[in-house]
Amino acid sequence: MLTIVSSSKIEEKQVEMLIIPVCEDADIHPADVVPELIRQARSLREFKGADNDGVVFFSPPGVRADQVMIVGLGKKDKMDGELFRNACGKAVKKCIQKEICEATFVVPVSGAIDFEPISMLETMMEGAYLGNYQFDKFKKPKHPSLLNISFVVDEGIVQASKLLANKIRIVCDGTLLAREWVTTPSNLKRPEQFSRLLLRLAEKENLKTEVLDHPALKKKKFGALLAVAAGSDASARLVVLEHNPGNASQTLALVGKGVTFDSGGINLKPQGSLEDMKMDMAGAAAVAATLITAARLHLPVRLIGVLPLVENMPSGAATRPGDIVESFSGKTIEINNTDAEGRLILADALSYVIQTYRPDAVIDLATLTGACVVALGEKIAGIFSPDERLPEPLIAAGMKTFERCWKMPLPEDYKELLKSEVADICNITGSKWGGAITAALFLSEFTTNTPWVHIDIAGPAYIKKETAYCGVGGTGFGVRLLCNWIERLAS
Ligand code: BES
Ligand code: MN
Ligand code: ZN
Repeated sequence: MLTIVSSSKIEEKQVEMLIIPVCEDADIHPADVVPELIRQARSLREFKGADNDGVVFFSPPGVRADQVMIVGLGKKDKMDGELFRNACGKAVKKCIQKEICEATFVVPVSGAIDFEPISMLETMMEGAYLGNYQFDKFKKPKHPSLLNISFVVDEGIVQASKLLANKIRIVCDGTLLAREWVTTPSNLKRPEQFSRLLLRLAEKENLKTEVLDHPALKKKKFGALLAVAAGSDASARLVVLEHNPGNASQTLALVGKGVTFDSGGINLKPQGSLEDMKMDMAGAAAVAATLITAARLHLPVRLIGVLPLVENMPSGAATRPGDIVESFSGKTIEINNTDAEGRLILADALSYVIQTYRPDAVIDLATLTGACVVALGEKIAGIFSPDERLPEPLIAAGMKTFERCWKMPLPEDYKELLKSEVADICNITGSKWGGAITAALFLSEFTTNTPWVHIDIAGPAYIKKETAYCGVGGTGFGVRLLCNWIERLAS
């Protein structure tokens, strides 16, 4: 829960844990907000107000709080959204360790920091709310998450803050859904099972749904997608979710790679590369969570979410390197590496959504290549598009939500590397270089003149070390970014 409290007479309110962020070199609270405590904290040698500094007082005089935590933010001119997310996420984690039930953050007064007050509050809420989540499906966490997080704001912005809190909670719940799905092990999210879970949630939000099962996919000739699923006992699904607010002026399609486990297939991955491949459906998770969130927020844009769900496994029925298949588009593909499977299922999903819905634009999210992680590291996604204008607002949305995307090139002449002697196109190149680019170029062959953006999230979709506001596992990367972008499109 996220709640808003007015700052008037905060001293008189009974709270369990009051959290006061302070700057190293400036006062960011009005003179009457527990000035004595802030002064006391500053007088301690261990506390400078620097980023990461923290001190806790128990039942201090002047307020009716069981505990007060003074949290350092660092220098005033260094303040930015991510710093607030981190500080609030860390403070919440500290409260969880202390088995607190409710934390109350005192928001710096409007104008004290060179940062738009509503944006500052937004980032504080995001860090705190996301930091409060613990994946508890299979074991009880050491300490329970907080039941409620409150924010003390100026009387003048209470109403606006309440509306904002509601929105942030919905968007972050979307991120948490995606995190949970990605962290769930592959034995519990095989395509059929995962599709049923998605459908149940989507229908609750009144999204229109459609599922193509194996016979339907075969009938409609999803040759590339079925080639990936061939090695698995679990049959493939294509889930389509539609958010249709009725009066929308444009239709956007979102496509997400949904490989529920990527063993590599006959091109089996080596030990060390297999262990985390439950995360290979993070694109599908982000897209499905975005559709659900868009429905909850009643965003006035028509969205089509397309989720090709497969398990990539080796077996006697698996596709062999060198096999040639006919894709949904009619183009033939020589599959020279069964581990380059994401582009195969996306090729069919892209062709299908373009042919069926004629969207104004298509965005795909995919944990597509290790090469993209080599290029940009584990925290930044690669963004690819032949369109002049589409990437920029997506990158801007990602800057706002700190889901960073870096524009990558799509050089025409590299397409040569994907040539096949025996089919229209090959799913890999002979070169070991530029793998993220050639994967994107492969996808571009299936987007037939529709404005399209590809976001390779192989790096940031999953983490093995917890951060200030995300635990080990899926990060939910893309959900806040997409929601922010769609929201701005609509306004
Ligand atoms: N799912 C992987 C990409 C990946 C790698 C995601 C590491 C997250 C972390 C993808 O299906 C894959 O195996 N790509 C190959 C492509 C290659 C065979 C051309 C790769 O990146 O090695
Ligand atoms: Mn693969
Ligand atoms: Zn994969």
